[in-house]
Amino acid sequence: MTTCSAPGKIYLFGEHAVVYGEPAIACAIELRTRVCAKKSNVIKISSNLGKTALDFDVHPYVSAAIKKMGSPGVSIEITSDIPVGSGLGSSAAVTIATLAAINIEFGLGYENEELARIGHEIEKEVQGAASPTDTFVSTFGGVVEIPSRKRLELLDCGIVIGNTNKGASPKKTAKLVQQVARLKEQYPDAINPIIKTIGSFAKQGEALVSEKNYTSLGKLMNVNHGLLDALGVCTVELSALVYAARNAGAYGAKLTGAGGGGCMVALSDSPQEVAKAIERAGGQAIITRFTQLGVLLE
Ligand code: MEV
Repeated sequence: MTTCSAPGKIYLFGEHAVVYGEPAIACAIELRTRVCAKKSNVIKISSNLGKTALDFDVHPYVSAAIKKMGSPGVSIEITSDIPVGSGLGSSAAVTIATLAAINIEFGLGYENEELARIGHEIEKEVQGAASPTDTFVSTFGGVVEIPSRKRLELLDCGIVIGNTNKGASPKKTAKLVQQVARLKEQYPDAINPIIKTIGSFAKQGEALVSEKNYTSLGKLMNVNHGLLDALGVCTVELSALVYAARNAGAYGAKLTGAGGGGCMVALSDSPQEVAKAIERAGGQAIITRFTQLGVLLE
């Protein structure tokens, strides 16, 4: 029996723009998904989504991971701190933890680099489009610039996540990526500069991360949120939590991940205050930290 865990992530800057080759900064967080893999006569998958065999509707990422590893007889049990389909990289975390646990349980000998590559293939197959960001960060942890894979300084302020508990769905990312692609096709003169500007925040963000300049990082996060709103991926519930966090003194706040509901993220040195404000505005607050830890054998 082998248990591996992998972290979720937040984007400081760059979701959606990263799909068009712009740089992004993504950060592993202390919320993790744990996958226990045990040799078995049949394939069994158990999570809070249900108990199934190989099932590409209920457990698309785990089923695809088992298939990629040669469909061995395996019993998989999943537990997770990461809300599903909410923009915190839950699909990458469960995919990477499953690949890693099967890799060790069956002595397959893959390196982490290879697991990240297979994980990205799985995300593309299931979602239709995916950048390598989530699977890379979930495998290696830390604060990372994508696509260069440059590891940046670990930030040490508090992170408050606000979950709207609305619009969460594992298939939502594909829909929103397509929605932005359509807008870009219809209005290239308006949308292309927005995407480029979002990319420029990741470039500026690199220096700000190494200086731990939370005030400037926060201001750029706020602008990034406004541009994601312009791309049509924000919701009224997300904005309510973003404004609540800013009014409670957060350095900055923005939606994180694909949007359309799901989660926002705020940076703050008074995370309890920001969390209370998020809860008062109708969200579910989760206080967490940045982490260097990627996929781990538990
Ligand atoms: C989803 O977490 C982030 C997007 O940029 C899609 C991706 O990068 O795969 C919307």
